[in-house]
Amino acid sequence: MGNLEWEIASAGRPRAGNIVPTGPPDIGRWQTTASTLSDSPIPVPDSPMRSILVIDDNPAVGTALESLFALREIRTVTATSPAEGLEILQRQPIGVVVQDMNFSADTTSGIEGMELFRAIRARHPDLPIVLLTAWTHLETAVDLVRAGAADYLAKPWDDHKLLATVENLLELAEATGEVSRLRAEHRRRRQALEQAYDLRGLVFAAPETLRVLELACQVARADVPVLITGPNGAGKERIAEIVQANSAVKDGPFVTVNCGALPSELIEAELFGADAGAYTGAPSKAREGRFEIADGGTLFLDEIGNLPLAGQAKLLRVLESGQFERLGSSRTRRAKVRVISATNADLADMIRAGRFRQDLYYRLNVIELGLPPLAERREDVLPLAEHFLAGAAALDGAARNALLAHAWPGNVRELKNVLQRAVLLCRDQVISVADLGLEAPRAAAPQTPPAAEPDRAAIEAALAEAGGVVSQAASALGLSRQALYRRMEKMDIGHRDAGMA
Ligand SMILES: Nc1ncnc2c1ncn2[C@@H]1O[C@H](COP(=O)(O)OP(=O)(O)OP(=O)(O)O)[C@@H](O)[C@H]1O
Ligand SMILES: [Mg+2]
Repeated sequence: MGNLEWEIASAGRPRAGNIVPTGPPDIGRWQTTASTLSDSPIPVPDSPMRSILVIDDNPAVGTALESLFALREIRTVTATSPAEGLEILQRQPIGVVVQDMNFSADTTSGIEGMELFRAIRARHPDLPIVLLTAWTHLETAVDLVRAGAADYLAKPWDDHKLLATVENLLELAEATGEVSRLRAEHRRRRQALEQAYDLRGLVFAAPETLRVLELACQVARADVPVLITGPNGAGKERIAEIVQANSAVKDGPFVTVNCGALPSELIEAELFGADAGAYTGAPSKAREGRFEIADGGTLFLDEIGNLPLAGQAKLLRVLESGQFERLGSSRTRRAKVRVISATNADLADMIRAGRFRQDLYYRLNVIELGLPPLAERREDVLPLAEHFLAGAAALDGAARNALLAHAWPGNVRELKNVLQRAVLLCRDQVISVADLGLEAPRAAAPQTPPAAEPDRAAIEAALAEAGGVVSQAASALGLSRQALYRRMEKMDIGHRDAGMA
């Protein structure tokens, strides 16, 4: 949490959305240190992920590949026998293996290659292996790709293709490493937050939500106004509850006023109270305002953008001095109240239009917590869905994909409603896409339709069709291999297990 503290101190009014997670500084990847290419003028990568191992009984293959990969700053280690290759893998970090299929002059069966492949797989289950094979053994190679080899190339290989294949695999391995590092970091931060604060059972998984919560908890104890911004149904009220639950006044009253639900004439009386007969239609008895009721606790002003200008002036005064008067009364009263407000309106726009006081705005948003729309924190979707289903029904695969792909203009509230309805409509407690009744996005039809972006289902289908061969699936989808890998990584689709099940 040290980073956040620093940011608050230096940024004045931080917005949760602007906080940049600070990780370790980028470690220089290119260092001229010992390697098989130490006499080469090209800087040699230090990262284990940028090293490949070539296992081929023909030393000329190793030499050729060494020069080829040096051009791309990839370090090549060579072995001329399976035993030597396995031994190197024990000792050195290697990002990708490129292996031959035959290792004795008198064998051409490819059995040795299969055995080597299995031996590497058994010891290093995640290491990508590319097979170099005579065209007569393409079938064996395809079998091995089914069994988890990353790819195969027929000898004589095409330099460009081999380079592209290996570079993609190295990139993917690096990205996967980075992704798991970020995941572990996310888990650690989440646990720390859960231990230190009461999150009121909030369901979340997205890093964007974690960031908002970290800031919310951190500012909760301070006696400063907090403004929560975000679209309808995003969960602003839930965040307000968390701020309250972790505040110094958590045992005091928690009073909510929805400024949007009251006619403007009544809001002032609601907030500040009124003396008997203070206005036309006022009750005959004096009434306490919400500020008085919330004294010593928290007042949550929801939809603050709907507070009329006269009410805004009074609110400003009570925030600045703690003083106010009931309607129709000249007696000044005092209340000490922690104010949390929320809005889905663009207050800056309202200020420009003269509908919201700038001084009040600055007063309310000493800390602004910007809760992103659900569509910008997709990792929250499925955990929230499971939470709302509460075991009453399960989602089938296509339904899950549809939930992930939907734009959620109504945010978490829409998700909740969709699932409540689906539970009633589904059969055998399994929710399918049809039960969700999600409308297709009604965007204006473009003149020339853009190339359809393949979704998870399309990618998984293409991979299954291609027997797991990424390059083949990529061309079927009209993507480059690299582009497909990026999407697979983003959607967390493993290329070995995709389509193999
Ligand atoms: N992370 C969450 N975990 C569990 N339930 C949630 C979560 N976020 C929102 N909800 C639920 O979704 C619904 C909408 O949330 P909430 O009322 O807090 O949204 P809001 O941003 O205040 O919406 P509005 O702008 O319409 O007032 C509520 O039923 C709330 O309990
Ligand atoms: Mg609300």
